[in-house]
Formats: sequence, structure tokens, C-alpha cells
Amino acid sequence: MPLSFLPLFLCWGVFVDVSDASSDWCYTGCAHTPSHWSSISGSSCGGDRQSPIDIVTSRAVTDSSLHNFTLVNFSSSHVFKSLTNTGHTVKCILEENEVEVTGGGLNATYSTIQFHFHWGDADHHPGSEHTVDGHRYPMEMHIVSLKKGLSVEQATVDPEGIAVLGFFINATDDGETSQTWDDFTSYLMNITTKGSVVDVSHNISIADLIGDVDLTKFYRYMGSLTTPNCNEAVVWTVFQEPIKVPKNLMERFPEQTELFHVYRPTQHLNGRHVFASPAIPPAPSHAWCYDDHCDYSPEHWHLLPESHCDGERQSPINIKKDDAMEDKLLDDFTYTKFDDKHTMKYIINTGHTVKCVLKDGMVEVSGGGLGYVYSTLQFHFHWGSGSDDSVGSEHTVDSKRYPMEMHIVNMRKDLTLEQAKEAPNGLAVLGFFIEPADGHKSGGGGSEHHEESSTSHTDPWKTFTSYLSAIKNISSQVEVTEDISIDDLIGDVDRSMYYRYNGSLTTPSCNEAVVWTVFKEPIKVDKDLMKMFPHRAGYHNVYRPTQSLHSRKVYTTAASSAPGPMMLILLLACFCVFAI
Ligand SMILES: *[C@@H]1O[C@H](CO)[C@@H](O)[C@H](O)[C@H]1NC(C)=O
Ligand SMILES: *[C@@H]1O[C@H](CO)[C@@H](O)[C@H](O)[C@H]1NC(C)=O
Ligand SMILES: *[C@@H]1O[C@H](CO)[C@@H](O)[C@H](O)[C@H]1NC(C)=O
Ligand SMILES: *[C@@H]1O[C@H](CO)[C@@H](O)[C@H](O)[C@H]1NC(C)=O
Ligand SMILES: *[C@@H]1O[C@H](CO)[C@@H](O)[C@H](O)[C@H]1NC(C)=O
Ligand SMILES: *[C@@H]1O[C@H](CO)[C@@H](O)[C@H](O)[C@H]1NC(C)=O
Ligand SMILES: *[C@@H]1O[C@H](CO)[C@@H](O)[C@H](O)[C@H]1NC(C)=O
Ligand SMILES: *[C@@H]1O[C@H](CO)[C@@H](O)[C@H](O)[C@H]1NC(C)=O
Ligand SMILES: [Zn+2]
Ligand SMILES: [Zn+2]
Repeated sequence: MPLSFLPLFLCWGVFVDVSDASSDWCYTGCAHTPSHWSSISGSSCGGDRQSPIDIVTSRAVTDSSLHNFTLVNFSSSHVFKSLTNTGHTVKCILEENEVEVTGGGLNATYSTIQFHFHWGDADHHPGSEHTVDGHRYPMEMHIVSLKKGLSVEQATVDPEGIAVLGFFINATDDGETSQTWDDFTSYLMNITTKGSVVDVSHNISIADLIGDVDLTKFYRYMGSLTTPNCNEAVVWTVFQEPIKVPKNLMERFPEQTELFHVYRPTQHLNGRHVFASPAIPPAPSHAWCYDDHCDYSPEHWHLLPESHCDGERQSPINIKKDDAMEDKLLDDFTYTKFDDKHTMKYIINTGHTVKCVLKDGMVEVSGGGLGYVYSTLQFHFHWGSGSDDSVGSEHTVDSKRYPMEMHIVNMRKDLTLEQAKEAPNGLAVLGFFIEPADGHKSGGGGSEHHEESSTSHTDPWKTFTSYLSAIKNISSQVEVTEDISIDDLIGDVDRSMYYRYNGSLTTPSCNEAVVWTVFKEPIKVDKDLMKMFPHRAGYHNVYRPTQSLHSRKVYTTAASSAPGPMMLILLLACFCVFAI
């Protein structure tokens, strides 16, 4: 090569690197490994709708429009054209315009053009691209289809131009064989080098390869091609059940092709949702929480199945004293067995709160403008960080948040729980703020004072909180054996003064079934006893942010519950006039 050509050659090299780099990428051992694909010119690999992803099953939202696929000629044994080693994968090219995919919640008909594979290595290092709850399967097969009538170029710029069906591949139980997969993988010995091609003469169909995978169970999300240029044009379908292939046949992929670890790492969801077809049973427990260390933080609660959390009568709220309208119908409550010292059954650490479940059918509440008799089911607590001045009530009053809040949950006696959750007044919750008892500013040497100044308030709370050390583990519970009543815990709070509004449960599913009563006067509890809730339960800040009032009104009991003398005279006067 003449020396003068050298600069040109180098230049050309750089040029290729920048503009035609889609052929100059790899999974390992070159400049453009997956973490550098985004710097490939013209690529979308750094975009925010990338594939593959980790499918978090508990977070998948069931979508009833994801019904059955219609797969045309998937059972035809005459559609496989050839098998190619592309240098990145093994690809099976199909006869044109024979195989089609529709249904499955797709908006169009898609023509299937090829399928290919992703794998790890023969040393049992798995190589699927998608993962499920962090689990990577040994292999993954991708069946690629273009929106009917579009060219590859057109499809890659259409946000739903390409439909890929993804199938996980798992090992069969030992001893099981598969003639289909044996036949199919026997072609790999003919394509050991990059660019080699072999015609497929066996009569194998796509359906033969898929086997008995349940095609009604799948996940759906909008993503991208998983190789450069990572075009964000793919409607992804990932089937839940894996195809079963004997291990020794799977090993032929890395062994024959000498391609290893041919899968892209999972990409961020960036706020995308993964949907599940209705045939996938909902995950047993959907992880919601109050912070962002779980799948569903409060701003995502509305995505949970059956959730009402984005409705217009949500709780808690900020109560503005001046906007609360007096309502004379808000009279005193009638409490049944609130003073009974043997109504508490057990106390449980739910992982979200500490809840005291009451014995069935004993405790009731009525009056207070409720209009129905309600059965009292349980009470529980909301709290803050547990530091000295922490606050953690759910409701706020003129934006003031109290240290804690106690909720006594009641259900209309004439309804079942299921009915009550659907009725606008099926549930009644009595909310009590909790604040530190006076003279218990802890810090300084005041601790000796606790015994001395402990009044009737302190003892029941001491009794109640003494159970907390037995339920440090989430889901653990402890039977209540000591004598303690709900009245003991509420103490001498003036229960004739309260706010009233229509709201919801403050935890998922946030059913808008609650008539709320928020008492104005807080319960006083020793600060050190309050701290035991976060410290024993092991979690903090268990309260939902306040919700928008929308068009609702907050009512309040009249300023003075007994009519003043002037009022009496007026009433009397009215009565007289009426009588005459
Ligand atoms: C979907 O397929 C399943 C199993 O093949 C079948 O039982 C069901 O009836 C189908 N549903 C619809 C809506 O076609
Ligand atoms: C299915 O395949 C047959 C031939 O194998 C072909 O005649 C037919 O057109 C195909 N169906 C569709 C919808 O393409
Ligand atoms: C179907 O079309 C709707 C409306 O354009 C779009 O929001 C949705 O993402 C599309 N779904 C699929 C699977 O392409
Ligand atoms: C995959 O195969 C292994 C070994 O046969 C088995 O233990 C595992 O349960 C399978 N996983 C799934 C999800 O089918
Ligand atoms: C594949 O390779 C084997 C072994 O080299 C050879 O016998 C066979 O003819 C080849 N098949 C095709 C279709 O090329
Ligand atoms: C494939 O099918 C064709 C016609 O259906 C038949 O002639 C041929 O023998 C079959 N090939 C094999 C390998 O079974
Ligand atoms: C909490 O769980 C651990 C282990 O899971 C157990 O050893 C311990 O006894 C449990 N504690 C309580 C109070 O249940
Ligand atoms: C609650 O809603 C009902 C109608 O659904 C209404 O009659 C009632 O006055 C409301 N109560 C409050 C306190 O807003
Ligand atoms: Zn692929
Ligand atoms: Zn609550």
C-alpha cells in the first residue's frame, strides 16, 4: 500500500466508525459494547423507550384489551427459508407474506419476517434479554413482524411499526427430548462462521418450536429494537410461559456459533407501564408503600389493580378551619362498648401500620349525623419519623400536621364488607390526632417525672404500646390479654367537636366509601410511648400526602354544642309564635 494512501485509509476508518456504525457494534470485545451503543451515530440506544426490560410482575397492570392473538400460518411447515449466522445471533428468515400476527391487543396486522435468538454460554450462564422479577432465563426467541405494507425503513420510524413476540426458553426436565428442536438446531453446524447461511429443508413450523406455551398469557409494553440502532418502534409481547428445550440442544447455540452472551442488559422503564393479559393471574401482593422504595409510591397508587386512588373524593385532606361550614345536624355520637375492656382481639404489624382488630359484632357507633349504625372493626395508627419533633398525622388542620393520628374504622352494620366498600357511606372512620402529653418535653432530666405525672392517660397507652415489642416482625400479631378499652385510649378528649367530610380510605385501593369524622381535640400521649410505634414497627412516615378537596365541603360541629341563653330565648320565641 503506498504511504500516501494511509491518511485516507485512517480517515475512512473514522468515517465508518461514525456514520455506518450499525454494523460495528458487539456485545463484548469491541469499542461499541452495549453501554456505548448510545454514542453510535443515528442510534436511539440512549432513548427513554428502550428494550429489553425487567418485568416486575407485581407492577404489571392487567389490561382487558390484551385478548387472544390470531397467528396465521404459524403451523405451516413450509415457511422457514434459511438460517443465518449474522455474527450477533442466529436468524431464521421466513418466506415473505406467508406468516401474520393480529389480535393480542395489536392495532394492526403484522407480517412476520424472521425470528432469532439470544443466549448466554454453555456454562449455564443465562442469556435471555428480558428478565422477570430479576430472573434471567437461559435463552429468548424473538419473532419479528412488520406492520403490514410497511418496508423495514418505514416500520423503524413508526412508533408501533414492529411487533416482536418474545418467548423465554427454559431447560426441559432431565431426560425429555424434542425432535423438533433437535432437527432445528442440527442446522447450527452448517453456520459456524459469520455470514454463513443454510437452507432449511426439514418441515418445521413456528408452532412446533413454540410447543405448548399458553399464548393467552403475556406481557405488553412499548419499547425498542434491542440491537443498534435500537429504534423505538417496537410493540413488545413477552409470553409468560417459557418454551422447553433440552439443555444439550440449547448448548449448540454457543458451541456451534462461538457467539457468547448475545443479549443486551435491561433498560430503564422511564415511567412506562407493563401490561398483563387478563389470563395472567394478578400477583398475590402488590407492593405499595409510603416512600419510593417499592413498586408503588403514593403517586403511583392509582396504577394498582382496582384502584380508586386518583378519584375526586380522596383522603386525607388539609382542613381549613375558616372554610368549614357549621352543620347543626352533627350531634353527639352514641358509642356501644367503647368502654368495654375486653373487645380488643389482637394487634398486628401489617407492614404499613399497627392495627388492633376488635372482636366481631361487639363495638358499635351511631349518631353524630351518620344516619346509620356502624360496627367497629379495628383501629390503627399513622406516624412520622419517630424523632423528637416528628409529625405524621394524615389530616392536617390549617396545614398543621400533628405527631400521630389514630383511625377507628367502622362499617355500616346493614352491609357486608364488600358492599360497604362500594357504598358512598359504607364506612365511617373516626380520626383522632395524637400529640405529646403536657409537661413531657423529653430531653433534660425529666424522665423521673413520668411515673409521677402519669395519669389515667398514660397507663392505657403504656399497656397498649407494651404489645409492640412482640410484633417487630412484619405480619406478626399478638393477642390482647390485658384489660383495656377504646375509651381508655381516647381519654377525656371532647368528642362533641369534630369535622365531617366525604372521603376515602387512605391506603390502596382508596375506596371512596368513607364518611370522615376528624375530632378537633387531640389525644395526649407520652412522647416516649409515641416513639415506640416507629421504633418497634421498624418503619417511618406512614401517612399519605393530603389530597385535593375538589368540589367537596368540610362541615364542622357548631361552635358551642349547647345553645346559649340568647339562642334559647329566640327558640322559645319561635316556638311560641309557631304554637299560636
Ligand atoms: C382465547 O383462547 C383460549 C384458549 O385457546 C380460549 O379458551 C378462549 O375462549 C379464547 N378467547 C377468545 C376471546 O377468543
Ligand atoms: C399461509 O400459507 C399458505 C401457503 O403455505 C399461503 O397460500 C397462504 O396465503 C398463507 N396465508 C396467508 C394469510 O398469508
Ligand atoms: C394502539 O393505538 C393507541 C391509540 O393510538 C395507542 O395509544 C396504543 O399504544 C396502541 N397500542 C399498540 C399495542 O400499538
Ligand atoms: C426452568 O427450568 C428449571 C430446570 O428444569 C426449573 O427448575 C424451573 O422451575 C424452570 N422455570 C420456569 C419458570 O419454568
Ligand atoms: C451441514 O453440515 C454437515 C456436516 O458438515 C453436512 O453433512 C451437511 O450436508 C450440511 N447440510 C447442509 C444443508 O449444508
Ligand atoms: C416436507 O413436506 C413435503 C411436502 O409436504 C414432503 O414432500 C417432504 O418429504 C417433507 N420433508 C421432510 C424432511 O419431511
Ligand atoms: C422475627 O423473625 C425472626 C426470624 O424470622 C425470628 O427469629 C424472631 O423470633 C421473630 N421475632 C418475633 C418477635 O416474632
Ligand atoms: C356526602 O355525600 C352525600 C351524597 O353522596 C351527601 O348527601 C352528604 O351531604 C355528603 N356529606 C358531606 C359531609 O359532605
Ligand atoms: Zn432479539
Ligand atoms: Zn388510617
